[in-house]
Amino acid sequence: MSNKFGQFSPGEMVETTGLLSIALLSLTLLIGPICQLFPRLDGLKAHRKFLGILSFLIALAHSALVYIFYVNFNLAKLFNPQSPQYVGLLLGLASLIILLVLTLTSNKFSLNFLTPKVWKLVQSTAYVALILAVGHFYLTKSTNGVFTVKSAAEQITFGLAAFVVLFRLLVIFYLKIKL
Ligand code: HEM
Repeated sequence: MSNKFGQFSPGEMVETTGLLSIALLSLTLLIGPICQLFPRLDGLKAHRKFLGILSFLIALAHSALVYIFYVNFNLAKLFNPQSPQYVGLLLGLASLIILLVLTLTSNKFSLNFLTPKVWKLVQSTAYVALILAVGHFYLTKSTNGVFTVKSAAEQITFGLAAFVVLFRLLVIFYLKIKL
């Protein structure tokens, strides 16, 4: 953690990239329900792919920084079942794998190959990725079972992600009641 890279410490870079990735994923997922409620904002959908892929690339950089600076290229040290962070790190890995699959299938070829119905199902696992990432955030930032969020950036990101998941559920129920 004492290594310096320019003005930022590895710890600061890991924190910033992690939070940025969750915030971008949350914004990506907010667009769908917002457009369902306000069809006039449909133009926002054109930015979903870019935001989603950016979220994955930043999560990848986050993981690479941890791999390089926290465990010095030692995967066994990173995923060590004896470590109190083990489960939290597994959730992060699962989230990253889902984001990778989503990035690789965000194209016309995959849409045609998988059929639109299956493709949509695959894309909706982005919510699972977000929930796993928030679980990862929660567990890696908990000490002795107590979740401690220090900065405003952490509080805002956590709140935004929770809001996006709740908002999605509310829109589903609201539209069901209206139909
Ligand atoms: C193999 C995949 C991953 C690994 C190894 C990993 C590793 C870590 C580690 C070690 C920390 C703790 C940093 C600390 O205590 O200072 C952390 C925090 C965090 N990670 Fe990950 N992570 C992974 C994937 C992800 C993904 C996919 C996301 C988001 C989509 C994410 C978001 C976060 C966030 C928000 C934090 C808390 C940042 C903070 O406020 O300090 N991580 N991660």
